[in-house]
Amino acid sequence: MTSTLLSLKKEVRFKAIQVIKSTLKGEDLQAALDNTLSQLLDTRDKALLTELSYGYFRYKNQLEFIWQRFIKKSAHLPLEINILLSTAVYQLLYLSKIPAYAVISWSVEFSKQNYGEKLAGLVNAVLRKISQLSLEEDFFKQDKADTLTFLSRKYAAPTWLVRYLLKDLGEEKALKFLASSLSRPLSSVLLAKNCDLSALREAIEENTEVGFSIKKGREEEVFRFLEAKKCLFYNQSIESQKILLSLLEEKDHLVWDACAGSGGKSFILSRVNKKVIASDINWKRLCFLKKESKRLGFTLMGVLRASAYALPCAQVEGILLDVPCSGLGVIARRPDIKWKRKEEDILNLAKIQKKILSKVASRVKKGGKIYYLTCTLTRKENELQIAEFLTAYPQFSLEKQILPDCSRQEVFFGACLHRK
Ligand SMILES: C[S@@+](CC[C@H](N)C(=O)[O-])C[C@H]1O[C@@H](n2cnc3c(N)ncnc32)[C@H](O)[C@@H]1O
Repeated sequence: MTSTLLSLKKEVRFKAIQVIKSTLKGEDLQAALDNTLSQLLDTRDKALLTELSYGYFRYKNQLEFIWQRFIKKSAHLPLEINILLSTAVYQLLYLSKIPAYAVISWSVEFSKQNYGEKLAGLVNAVLRKISQLSLEEDFFKQDKADTLTFLSRKYAAPTWLVRYLLKDLGEEKALKFLASSLSRPLSSVLLAKNCDLSALREAIEENTEVGFSIKKGREEEVFRFLEAKKCLFYNQSIESQKILLSLLEEKDHLVWDACAGSGGKSFILSRVNKKVIASDINWKRLCFLKKESKRLGFTLMGVLRASAYALPCAQVEGILLDVPCSGLGVIARRPDIKWKRKEEDILNLAKIQKKILSKVASRVKKGGKIYYLTCTLTRKENELQIAEFLTAYPQFSLEKQILPDCSRQEVFFGACLHRK
């Protein structure tokens, strides 16, 4: 390997291409990123790697559409060049701090070393043209695009998803959601214990009783403060804290978190002094939950591998169902979901949710509650699912329902079902 090639492979932009390739093969974006971030020392390199990897998935089809306008036979390009062009376009059009010459010269050098002079020449010509482009809405209307194609390019979402949301939610809500899902939500944390945060007042955007979100650009300062004060925390979306907290009742003492996964909701329950039993079918996630609950100092009454189809218990006061769902409400934080989901997943997941609900119905004591949560906005998985359940199980009534707020960057649904 030549020394130029070796040094190119140490570069953040090369590492971003590898993270994106693994994610396209099916790995979770954050997991692929975590593996590579641990190899980097410089915080600026880490930030750029994260920005490029997330930016690619946030704008994937739009970036491809842009560079494909300037290449006749784009279908024949190697995958690495495809990703390279998309990440370069992202830097040229969406990142103001990186000079165009730096983006273009690295891309050309990488192409030359790996794919030869001819392809490098093409990359150079295309990126130079794009660096002069000012992106206007009309750009996405080219080729007499129909409305769906235009919206899919503009909001960087698969056509099926745009069609589905327009039909399911109506134009206003669907477009509001698609627009807000294009920017990264604020970082937010759940605190393991109450901490005196008065020194952070200026840096905090919003609070819940167990955590807070951090203003853009203030993250480093906040995390340094929390570490210095030994305030243990868990990264957790503030919207997911808000939805669960607003559903919970004062009085149920024990809550069985029957889809506990890695434990995010179990930790909220512990923080508000519930007794918690956590179960899930995924042992790997439960191992993470155990490790994290130990680190954070939460004592759970039990952690066990069990299916929500057959909970190994008699009747309990409260059951939390943070069900497997299409996850479309959190594409702002996890944009790879947009490209991994298929329309039929919604129906298949709704069937699983229906089965989970019907199987736990008999495990709730009279007077007890089911707390049903999703991180999606499709009505099939949310209010229609609950309406169907209430028809089939008239011994339950709907105590509270929180519909997705499509103007938020992260969208959750929750319902509290009371067993009469
Ligand atoms: C939305 S995730 C839960 C996230 C978790 N509550 C948190 O806050 O981190 C859904 C979970 O449901 C689990 N799951 C799927 N089918 C299940 C079943 N039949 N019984 C129990 N858990 C199931 C998945 O393994 C996954 O961990």
